Amino acid sequence: MTQEAAFTATIEKDQRIEPRDWMPDGYRKTMIRQIAQHAHSEIIGMQPEGAWITRAPSLRRKAILLAKVQDEAGHGLYLYSAAETLGADRGDLTRRLIEGRQKYSSIFNYPTLTFADVGVIGWLVDGAAICNQVPLCRSSFGPYARAMIRICKEESFHQRQGYELLMTMMRGTEAQRDMVQDAVNRWWWPSLMMFGPPDAESPNTAQSMAWKIKRHTNDELRQRFVDMSVPQASALGVTLPDPDLRWNPEREHHDFGEIDWSELKRVISGDGPLNAERIEHRRRADEDGEWVRSAAAAHAAKKQGVRG
Ligand SMILES: [Fe+2]
Ligand SMILES: [Fe+2]
Repeated sequence: MTQEAAFTATIEKDQRIEPRDWMPDGYRKTMIRQIAQHAHSEIIGMQPEGAWITRAPSLRRKAILLAKVQDEAGHGLYLYSAAETLGADRGDLTRRLIEGRQKYSSIFNYPTLTFADVGVIGWLVDGAAICNQVPLCRSSFGPYARAMIRICKEESFHQRQGYELLMTMMRGTEAQRDMVQDAVNRWWWPSLMMFGPPDAESPNTAQSMAWKIKRHTNDELRQRFVDMSVPQASALGVTLPDPDLRWNPEREHHDFGEIDWSELKRVISGDGPLNAERIEHRRRADEDGEWVRSAAAAHAAKKQGVRG
């Protein structure tokens, strides 16, 4: 059997491709790009909520938020490690992020204006991430699929903590309820954009589905998310900001309004509300960590020298 036939057979049998296996260049490149983009999103995604750690309203809320933001750092690290099994270098990936040559999820370019945003990010943004990521636990690349299993477990904690925070606020004062509704109004549409462009404009989807990197299309996952969120919104007592949102008994799904795709394009291309600030923050963090990396490298070299 040729290498290519072995690769195809593995995919067809729904088995995993491992780093030692032969794989087409396109598969390797697509996988590195997707995993890196995902890792960058986890790390940049620490910023919007991280901004509230020092201002959390109680010790309990602070402990929960710290744990959540630290989880996101962990997700980034598992994913950079998965990318390294494909021959990528973490330092190089970070440079690409800082230089704007690799992307991260557009959602993290929006500001967190009140503490209700922490709850809404947990509920909607981590909720959308779960919809996207649960099928990735069966992704054809072994290290990525295995990392996703643990990540998804932690994401469901993130979603629950957000929902519980919002429930608490909704049982509070009028001002708290208004804060929650305002945050929902601002995050709902960007959350729908997290699933990417519509299928008709997503040229890589077909190849990624054939390689079983992706299991569902963007529009399928977006629909699943809408259907899941509607009953949760009504249990919370918030209104989703879409006058066209209604149950369609023929489709057995919710219909929803047109997404402003020009906004997604603008934010992805770097012109969102906080793109420059997010990258600048990441660049500074990278510079601040330089002494740790060089100390670790010097230590490793010294130890090798003693042994050698
Ligand atoms: Fe995460
Ligand atoms: Fe998360």
